[in-house]
Amino acid sequence: MARAMRLFAFALLVAIAASVDRNNFKTCDQSSFCRRLRKVEQDNSKYILNLDTLQVSAHSLEADLLNPDATFKFTLTALAGNTFRLFADEIKPLHKRYKVVGALDGEPKLTKLEVLERTKQEVVIKCGDSKVKLIAEPFKIEFYNKDTVVAVVNARGLFTIEHLRVKPQEQADGNEELPKEDPGAWEENFKSHHDSKPRGPEALAMDVTFPGAIRAYGLPEHADHLALRSTGPGATDPYRLYNLDVFEYELETTMAIYGAVPVLYAHGPENTVGVFWHNSAETWVDISNSKDTNVVSSIVNLVSGKKDENKVDAHFMSESGVLDVFVMLGPKPADVVKQYAALTGVAPLPQYFTFGYHQCRWNYNDEDDVKNVVEKFDEGDFPLDVMWLDIEYTDGKKYFTWDPVKFSHSTVMLNNLTATGRKLVAIIDPHVKRESGYFLHEDALNNDYYVKDKDGKVFEGWCWPGSSSYPDFFDPTVVDYYSNLYSLDKFKGSTENLYIWNDMNEPSVFNGPEITMGKDMVHYGNWEHRHVHNLYGLYYTMVTMKGLQARSPNKRPFILTRAFFAGSQRYAAMWTGDNAAEWSHLAISYPMCLSVALGGISFCGADIGGFFHNPDPELLLRWYQVATWLPFFRAHAHIDTKRREPYLYGSDVQMRIRNALKLRYAHLPMWYTQFWEHSRTGEPVIRPLFYEFPEDSNVLDIDNQVLIGKSVMATAVSQHSASSASVYLPGGSEQLWYDLSDFKSYTGSGYITYPVNLDKIPVFYMGGSIVSRKDRPRRASSLMHDDPYTLYVSLDNNKSATGTLYIDDSESYEYKKKKYLYIRFNYKDNTLTNSFIDQDAKYPTLSWLERVVVLGASNNFRYATLKTPKGEDTILQVSYDSEGRSLIIRKPGVSMREKFTITLH
Ligand code: NOJ
Repeated sequence: MARAMRLFAFALLVAIAASVDRNNFKTCDQSSFCRRLRKVEQDNSKYILNLDTLQVSAHSLEADLLNPDATFKFTLTALAGNTFRLFADEIKPLHKRYKVVGALDGEPKLTKLEVLERTKQEVVIKCGDSKVKLIAEPFKIEFYNKDTVVAVVNARGLFTIEHLRVKPQEQADGNEELPKEDPGAWEENFKSHHDSKPRGPEALAMDVTFPGAIRAYGLPEHADHLALRSTGPGATDPYRLYNLDVFEYELETTMAIYGAVPVLYAHGPENTVGVFWHNSAETWVDISNSKDTNVVSSIVNLVSGKKDENKVDAHFMSESGVLDVFVMLGPKPADVVKQYAALTGVAPLPQYFTFGYHQCRWNYNDEDDVKNVVEKFDEGDFPLDVMWLDIEYTDGKKYFTWDPVKFSHSTVMLNNLTATGRKLVAIIDPHVKRESGYFLHEDALNNDYYVKDKDGKVFEGWCWPGSSSYPDFFDPTVVDYYSNLYSLDKFKGSTENLYIWNDMNEPSVFNGPEITMGKDMVHYGNWEHRHVHNLYGLYYTMVTMKGLQARSPNKRPFILTRAFFAGSQRYAAMWTGDNAAEWSHLAISYPMCLSVALGGISFCGADIGGFFHNPDPELLLRWYQVATWLPFFRAHAHIDTKRREPYLYGSDVQMRIRNALKLRYAHLPMWYTQFWEHSRTGEPVIRPLFYEFPEDSNVLDIDNQVLIGKSVMATAVSQHSASSASVYLPGGSEQLWYDLSDFKSYTGSGYITYPVNLDKIPVFYMGGSIVSRKDRPRRASSLMHDDPYTLYVSLDNNKSATGTLYIDDSESYEYKKKKYLYIRFNYKDNTLTNSFIDQDAKYPTLSWLERVVVLGASNNFRYATLKTPKGEDTILQVSYDSEGRSLIIRKPGVSMREKFTITLH
């Protein structure tokens, strides 16, 4: 029976795999609400803000907003950090409209506003340097940075909230009295699926124009470039935000994939403005960038003498929910991204090992397999921190169980891994196998934990185990129950060194509409799946986080998720899902992760090697080199692919992969410090060039280069047999960049043609930065904890540099009790000093300073002196490399806990 079931499930999968294509996913035209909202007539807004009803309080304005059919309560609230919240809900709704819960990191902080002007037609308020003008008829909101208008809501009159209403009588043919409705407004079919829409149409939309903006970024997740393209009826579909399991996703499209973060950044040389559309229902966003239409208009203008004005137009459209929007006025990219982080939170500091190398495949077959792989890594001198187990480790895809034959001694396996300094990550998916006797299914049935269908029956769908049901993670009782499954006495065979991979949490339902749950399924609180779809993956990771924290209260959890929403950074790292072993997929990994990082989730990576198909050795080794510079560093492969662990290749390929891994391990202190800083400031760990160089118009479309904080810049090489790469060095002639491979220096004066071979991709240290490294790579990061540091001091034009380093115990929450060191290094006037940023924080590190490498120093230094508060001055040897590009100060030997001054003479 079990075997028959497995065969059936497999046959189903093969059938699905072979048939899934674009036709499985809706276009805007196939979605009733997208069609309806895209058809709203421009420049004819029927919405009026009734300023007679205006009420002003310390932080907000409130007034009635009317259209001919309904009245809404509109509120504008001033928030700390140059941010405004717009909110509108029906005054007397037929049904309550859904308000998102779980994306915000607590209630946003309010700030005071001041009314500057008030007439019957408009109200102007001021908050710091920003002003907001509310215009009554037609309803419009203008946002100003000082006196420049930077964003206008409803500039095009597309603002819409469909009020909930009773279904009109069936429209008789030829009855002219009733307005014609979209055929899908009250119920809708897609392929063989029917959506009963019990509440009828309840969509909403808002347009925002950003005068002066020349690019739009954000709205992850799409397998597309970082800068958003212009979309529009008759041309490209809007960017779609609807978490979906898209088999063999295509590149360079606006189609939805696994995650959704509805935050948009409109960027111009003077101002960057963000809009966070706080809505968890299916959402589409049309973008129009004047640069794409100016070509035509500039010819017209040439004749008329008019000047083109730069602007970006956005049109947000969601299927349901209240109108809840945050407008973040920057004014610089870093300000807006931090304002967004203030709303949705930051990633808590991960454990150190999470930045090491992760080895995954679907599947490592049994305990011996795991053991052998680790041994081969050790034999081949490839650093490795984490082994991963995909779904086959379970007993018949029943999560929280182990295959009784292949993984019968999982605790021993885990302990063996730990003994070599490694960890294990195992997959746990949300679907639950409907098998009688399976405790999780029985508990869920008996206690009513599952999502229901529209008739109140438990929803059943197909996923890996075959027939499955889906716990309702919106129900607090389910959260308590399910999170408790991670406790060591419940999850038998697990240990504290097991961490978790949450997959298929869009949720993926193989036989559902668009491979997910039908929209009229019902969740806790009587909300339809339609209202909360994009939150399901986020809630699932919340539950896992809760479970791991309860299991191991003093160990920071690690969770990897495929589906995500705004705020997911507080719980999990993410990866870009099922990519393919193709050069184009390697290339898209930087733009995808950069976009997700701007959406608040810095901990991003792509499957090294490509998930589907078999990479040739060149593609594989390039993938390692490129992925070295993304936060999450994991190789993974589909079950049908050939084995591709690094030790299986010829010695040249092995050598190059080993070098990439070692370079990664040398930079682990940098990643750790960057994530520490992210957790304090909200700044993304990986950054596109426009983030640091917002005034440089050359960088707007560059997304094959990634900055790690303000210190490293890597360029992806994603072409077969590449012998050179074009690299843009930003910052102008004053800015120095140092090639990591030979320390040759360049200035930031634009593009260079950089010769590449198979040994390297272009990576530069930024002049003015100090990067802390551990240059004695070992088998696993845990074995490097007390290793000494080398500082790479890359001098700027004034012969100065600065950098930071964060050190703690690498795993616990003791840092919250000030058990850490947060060090600033400064190099100036030939002298390197350190200072402690949080002076009351202490950590008894055993690490010491092994070397200082100064790039860009003059070549006449003979020796250095080391001064510590305790000791006598010590003389240190210095030397130069043969090309004279780096100066090395040997063995300062001082503890990283101590204050020191090193001076060159
Ligand atoms: C889909 C995931 O994206 C992939 O990484 C995983 O290997 C399979 N599910 C099987 O669990």
